[in-house]
Amino acid sequence: MHFNQIKCMLFSENTIAIPESKLTVSYSDEGPKAGVPVIIFIHGFPFNKLMWNNQIDILRKHYRVIAYDIRGHGNSEGDAEDFSIAQFAEDLIFLMNALDIKRATLCGLSMGGYIVLNAMENYSSRFEALILCDTQCKDDSPEAKEKRLKAIESIRLNGKEHYANESVKNLFAPESFATRRKEIAGIKEMIINTSIDTLDHTLQALANRNETCSKLPEIMIPVLIMTGTEDKITPPAAAQFMSDNIRDSRLCLIEHSGHISNVENPESFNEQLTKFLAEVYK
Ligand code: MLT
Repeated sequence: MHFNQIKCMLFSENTIAIPESKLTVSYSDEGPKAGVPVIIFIHGFPFNKLMWNNQIDILRKHYRVIAYDIRGHGNSEGDAEDFSIAQFAEDLIFLMNALDIKRATLCGLSMGGYIVLNAMENYSSRFEALILCDTQCKDDSPEAKEKRLKAIESIRLNGKEHYANESVKNLFAPESFATRRKEIAGIKEMIINTSIDTLDHTLQALANRNETCSKLPEIMIPVLIMTGTEDKITPPAAAQFMSDNIRDSRLCLIEHSGHISNVENPESFNEQLTKFLAEVYK
């Protein structure tokens, strides 16, 4: 099934007001509502919940599957001054509380993975298993922080379309430009649909995030780590490092993939995902 076909599929789109964090969250909530495990998907920067449609479609027969838009992204709103990875993790907990979800498995890609690791550090009792995709535990080097500030300047000067065109060059594996044209167009659209203020504030939040590497040995639940073999942003070595430091973890490299492995090679990604969840919830 093509990304665009999936994009057009009508997964439920709900909104919920979270007064504690002055936030309105847009989310989809598929599958049975009781008696099954809950899987929550967290998108990367600057995308939105639609990036998980393929995975939602596969899992919703057996699991309650939630994908939501992080504050400011997609159709979620939220105060601009509150952008930080720690705040995004707290938003996740408020969302779980509002939906009466006591425990869940989290699946996050890149920035979504930073949020997963922050949430695990601060609210570990709420999680049953983790799936870390194309992400890392390190914080930004001074050079990486500088690059983010330059990106903010460039977005304000040259606009979002230019930023989207430049971003996809790094996000995708070279072969994806021939084989995944519709998917790349979908991701570009998500970037362009993100407001300039959200791009600016989230880039600052990413630059200011804390490392979570020192906390990896404390993780005592099952973890699946997946990374595209050609991921230039969070390369396989970053995934290997996390795997080496998380006791009960499994590392899978996803071939024919850059940084967006669930979109570039959904077949392989979904195979590993479903196998892992079947083992966790056997
Ligand atoms: C993402 O995909 O979420 C970003 O590449 C994360 C980052 O820039 O560190």
